[in-house]
Amino acid sequence: MSKLRAIITGIEAYLPDYVLTNEELTHMVDTSDEWIMSRVGIKERRILKKDGLGTSFMGAEAAKKLLKSTNTNPDDVQLVVCHSVTPDMQFPATANVIADKVGIKHAWGFDTNSGCSGFLFTFETVRMFIESGEYKKIIFICGERMSGITDYKDRSTCPLFGDAAVAMMVEPCEDENYGLLDSILHVDGVGRKYLFQVGGGSLYPASEETVKKRMHYIHQEGQQVFRHAVVGMADVSAEIMDRHNLKAEDIAYLVPHQANLRIIDATAKRMGLAKEKVLIDIEKFGNTAATSIPLALWDFRDKIHKGDLLVFSAFGAGFTWGAELYRWAY
Ligand code: ACO
Repeated sequence: MSKLRAIITGIEAYLPDYVLTNEELTHMVDTSDEWIMSRVGIKERRILKKDGLGTSFMGAEAAKKLLKSTNTNPDDVQLVVCHSVTPDMQFPATANVIADKVGIKHAWGFDTNSGCSGFLFTFETVRMFIESGEYKKIIFICGERMSGITDYKDRSTCPLFGDAAVAMMVEPCEDENYGLLDSILHVDGVGRKYLFQVGGGSLYPASEETVKKRMHYIHQEGQQVFRHAVVGMADVSAEIMDRHNLKAEDIAYLVPHQANLRIIDATAKRMGLAKEKVLIDIEKFGNTAATSIPLALWDFRDKIHKGDLLVFSAFGAGFTWGAELYRWAY
């Protein structure tokens, strides 16, 4: 009997309407369109502005569209998994809130949190549920309200991040040539010093002091993260190609985490891929953390065809990093 594979059979996104441009940022901090475009490659990002709405709102909007476009009865969904570094609350899990909002009553679910590599790490987890043979329909959501933890007084981080959510239907496929074919994933806790949001957890519970010291916002030592990300993403992407004896011409597209255009370019160069083979939309959406890879899959859905071999590659807080080989199945 051939091996079951986990395949994405539907993908939908929610993007907030509000567009925060580089021009608007120049009125908030000492920065310029020229600096942001040349150092990072971002022109604008989407921001969820309305009070009282969090990641579950965006995730539920994407999941509602997904149920409709895949013609799925909510009662048939068995598992809801949500990756977020910006869940609605510490608990309960945002996956539960989304399931309730979209009328999924017969599933269980949980959240994951692996920084910007979270799509890769969580897809690998979802793969194992599918390959067990017990799960036929899993909704996998990546959603981030990064604006809620971004310090709009810190010019070194506030141009970087944006908000979005993507919902994917993951199902089994009996043809082992399709779906998630391989993963190489890493963590190295040494990176925790360079990229974190320290306030509000059990180490530094929220207090007047944590608020005063701006500890509830993202802190990043950009150059340190950059150095590790360039090497980590390029190495692991080349490694997955080597492991499968792949040449540049075998790969339809690299779908990278969208944190910095220079990191993406270095990864593509190491893989020997021409620019046309890299799906890049950082200019429009900024860094939406683990949502950025599925957001690019959704954004470029008309370009991707059944049988296309894709490499997903990411680097994020932790440090976490990895690459996955995936053959598009519909
Ligand atoms: N506008 C103008 N000047 C700025 C800005 C800004 N927005 N931000 C920083 N600068 C200045 C700095 O003050 C510094 O000035 P100085 O030389 O006078 O001290 C100068 O620009 C250079 O600053 P660097 O921090 O060295 O800038 P760098 O070229 O490294 O770019 C960036 C910063 C974009 C953050 C880059 O380091 C980066 O992309 N790092 C990796 C990000 C990443 O991959 N993160 C992982 C995923 S995210 C996640 O997991 C949540």
